[in-house]
Amino acid sequence: MKRNNLLSHSFHALVVREEEQGVFVKQIERQQTDMLPPGEVLIKVLFSSLNYKDALSAAGNRGVTRRYPHTPGIDAAGVIVESDHGTLRPGDEVLVCGYDLGMNTPGGFGQYIRVPAAWVLPRPAGLTAEQAMQIGTAGFTAALSVSALLQSGIQPADGTVLVTGASGGVGCFAVALLCRLGFTVTAATGKIVAMPFLRELGASDFLSREQASAGKERMLLRERWAGVVDTVGGQILATAIKSTKYGGIVSCCGNAASGELPVSVYPFILRGVTLKGIDSAQCPLARRKEIWELMAGKWHGAWPAAISRTVPLADIGGCIDQMLQGKIWGRVVVDLWGQK
Ligand SMILES: NC(=O)c1ccc[n+]([C@@H]2O[C@H](COP(=O)([O-])OP(=O)(O)OC[C@H]3O[C@@H](n4cnc5c(N)ncnc54)[C@H](OP(=O)(O)O)[C@@H]3O)[C@@H](O)[C@H]2O)c1
Repeated sequence: MKRNNLLSHSFHALVVREEEQGVFVKQIERQQTDMLPPGEVLIKVLFSSLNYKDALSAAGNRGVTRRYPHTPGIDAAGVIVESDHGTLRPGDEVLVCGYDLGMNTPGGFGQYIRVPAAWVLPRPAGLTAEQAMQIGTAGFTAALSVSALLQSGIQPADGTVLVTGASGGVGCFAVALLCRLGFTVTAATGKIVAMPFLRELGASDFLSREQASAGKERMLLRERWAGVVDTVGGQILATAIKSTKYGGIVSCCGNAASGELPVSVYPFILRGVTLKGIDSAQCPLARRKEIWELMAGKWHGAWPAAISRTVPLADIGGCIDQMLQGKIWGRVVVDLWGQK
């Protein structure tokens, strides 16, 4: 790929450095766009958002980011400044979510990114850059999960849907979307303080993490859920699968609790339960466009503005620490050019 550096811009970015082995520090630093990696499109980032993967990257998780210093941020909404690509032009308003952005490519917690043209999506009409980042990878993943449930044919009349990790970014969007579509939703959450927020999104019942992970010793549990959107994995996902009704579907996108899945084959071979994996990072372009169009169109407004708060770049380090301590609920949008 050609490096397009007609003009070098100076900009601010959150940079994570490994100060000594295993000790990672993060601070806002000044950088130059000619230091960004090669790519066809240089984008001025207006808004980004905080996802769990960003917190892992900022904490030095080598499964997410191999080399430091590094700028996290798997989401970016902004304006093209320079382009070597025929159909993407300076001034175009675009989104970049997923692929390698913020993992091993400097990400959206910098005021500029340079990326391959294949990662760039026009921002759907009907969404401002800030609204697009309110959704971000978390909302997009929730929409993929809900869409998977709908494609399996389940309907509100089939019964209650369980959402796990409900106060998190993916979880809260899943609650809001499902409730808007008419489903009755039970929210599994470890945060009593987040219950009023989840009720506002439409959740009608709650499970504690202990309740949601009960029944370790049993192969099958009482049939409760027509569908499940799981964001945490581990024992909670296993319990959810064992409690899914005959013919029901469980979507699985996350490992916030664990990457393990301690479950037998019986829910699958005796109840015909479907386990559907969800990946947003490498999601094919056509599906990506379809989901963004849903979020900008038919499903637009299924979530209240209170689902997110917007912070300036200077505050993102503190928000990352809160996320790692499990103290955040809802979404955090980052205003790259906003003042503290
Ligand atoms: N497959 C994909 O493409 C994709 C895309 C986006 C995200 N993800 C994954 O999905 C998960 C959620 O992402 P997110 O951005 O929503 O993260 P998040 O905002 O940090 O939410 C995660 C939620 O999980 C719950 N949780 C955290 N630690 C837990 C534990 N030890 N046991 C049980 N529950 C726990 C918490 O909710 P409560 O306090 O309400 O229980 C927390 O708010 C992450 O694993 C992330 O990597 C995957």
